[in-house]
Amino acid sequence: MQLQQNKSLLPYNTFHIDVNAEFFTELNDVSSLAEISALPQQKHILGGGSNILLIQPLKGIVIHNNLKGIVLEKEDDQHVWLRVASGEIWHELVMHTVNHGWGGLENLALIPGTVGASPIQNIGAYGVEAKETIESVECWSWNQRTLQNFSNSDCEFGYRDSIFKRILKNEVLITSVLFRLNKVPVYNISYGALEDELKQMGVEELSVKAIAYAVMNIRRSKLPDPKVTGNAGSFFKNPTISKLLYDKIHANYPGIPSYQVNELKIKVPAGWLIEQCGWKGYRKNDAGVHAKQALVLVNHGHAKGDEIWKLSGEIVASVKEKFAIELEREVQVW
Ligand code: FAD
Ligand code: EPU
Repeated sequence: MQLQQNKSLLPYNTFHIDVNAEFFTELNDVSSLAEISALPQQKHILGGGSNILLIQPLKGIVIHNNLKGIVLEKEDDQHVWLRVASGEIWHELVMHTVNHGWGGLENLALIPGTVGASPIQNIGAYGVEAKETIESVECWSWNQRTLQNFSNSDCEFGYRDSIFKRILKNEVLITSVLFRLNKVPVYNISYGALEDELKQMGVEELSVKAIAYAVMNIRRSKLPDPKVTGNAGSFFKNPTISKLLYDKIHANYPGIPSYQVNELKIKVPAGWLIEQCGWKGYRKNDAGVHAKQALVLVNHGHAKGDEIWKLSGEIVASVKEKFAIELEREVQVW
C-alpha cells in the first residue's frame, strides 16, 4: 500500500471541486484491506466521486477503489449470477450484461460511478432500482477485519437508501456485489419518457439493448455531462408528502406531477418544486441550477463546495416556504 499526502481530489469528483485529502491510497487488492484497517486515521471510500460534494479539506485517508473483476459465478436455465468487484465502472457492467442479452440492468445505463456504490443508495432510474437484481453484497468490516456477506434483505433497501447509509455508514467497504440477471429478460418500460423515446427511435421489437440505448438518449438530453459541467446528478431526493398537503398544493397548481405511493402518501418531483420557486437556470458566480433539470446543481467552473452547499440551503428554504415541504439532500457531503 502506498500512501500519498496532500493529494488534490479535483480529478476524482464529478462536481470538479478542488480540495486536498490529507492521505490518499489506491485500493487494487482485497488483501491490502487488513493493512489499511490497522491505520488509525479516519477512512473515506471513494468510487467515481459522482455522488459527493466536497466542502472542506479532508482529514484522514481517501481510499480510491480500484478493485476489478467480473465472474460468472453460476447459472441455471433462467438466470446468471455475476460476482462483480466493487471498483468496476457501473455503466461498463451494464453494457457487458446488455451485450450478453441478460436482463435486469438495462434501465440503469449511463449512471456514473462504480459498482460498489450501487447498493449504498440503491441507485435507480427509469422505473428500476438496483435492489431488484442485487442478490448479496460482500463487505470488509474495518472493526472486525473480516469479509462479511449481506443478503438482499439484510441491506434494507429503500428509495435512495440502504443500511450502508445508516448503521453501517463508515463501518464497511463494499468489496463485491452479486447480481442475479435474467436470461429471458422481463422488460420494464413503464416510465412514460422511456416508452416515448422507444417510439421515437422506431423500435418495433423490444430488447435489453434497445432499452439501454433509449435510456442513454433520454439521459443525454436532460442531464449535464460531468466531463463538461460539474454535477452529482440529482442533488435532492424526491419527497413523499401526505395526500392532504398534496391536495392543498394541487388546488393552486393543478399541473403538479405526482406518483401515488399508497392511499395516504404521494411522491412529487423535487425538480418541479424547485422550478416553481424560480431556480431553474439560476447562477451565482460558478454555482448554479441546471437549465434543463432543476434537481441538478452544477459547477460551471471554479465553484467551491461551500458555494454549492449554500445554494442548496437557499433552495431548501424557498421550497419549504412556498410548499411547506422539506427537501432532503441525496448527495453525500464530505
Ligand atoms: P462515490 O460518489 O464515490 O461515493 C458515494 C458514497 O458511497 C460515498 O459516501 C462513498 O464513501 C460511498 N462508497 C462508494 N463506494 C463504496 C464502497 N465500495 N464501499 C463502501 N462505501 C462506498 N444516481 C441514481 O441513483 N440514479 C441516477 O439516475 C443517477 N444519475 C446521475 C447522473 C449524473 C450525471 C451524476 C453525476 C450522478 C448520478 N447519480 C445517479 C448519482 C451517482 O452516479 C450514484 O449515486 C453512484 O452510485 C455513485 O457512485 P460513485 O462510485 O461515484 O460513488
Ligand atoms: N420536472 C420539472 N422541472 C424540472 C425537472 C423535472 O417540472 O426542472 C418534472 C418533469 O417534467 C417530470 C418530473 O419532474 O414530470 C420527473 O422528472 P424526471 O423524469 O427528469 O425525473 P426526476 O424525478 O427529476 C429521478 C431521479 C433520477 C433519475 C430519473 C429517471 C431522484 C432524486 N432522481 O429524477 O436520478 O435518473 O428520475 O428515473 O429520484 C440521481 O439520483 O442522481 C438521478 C439523476
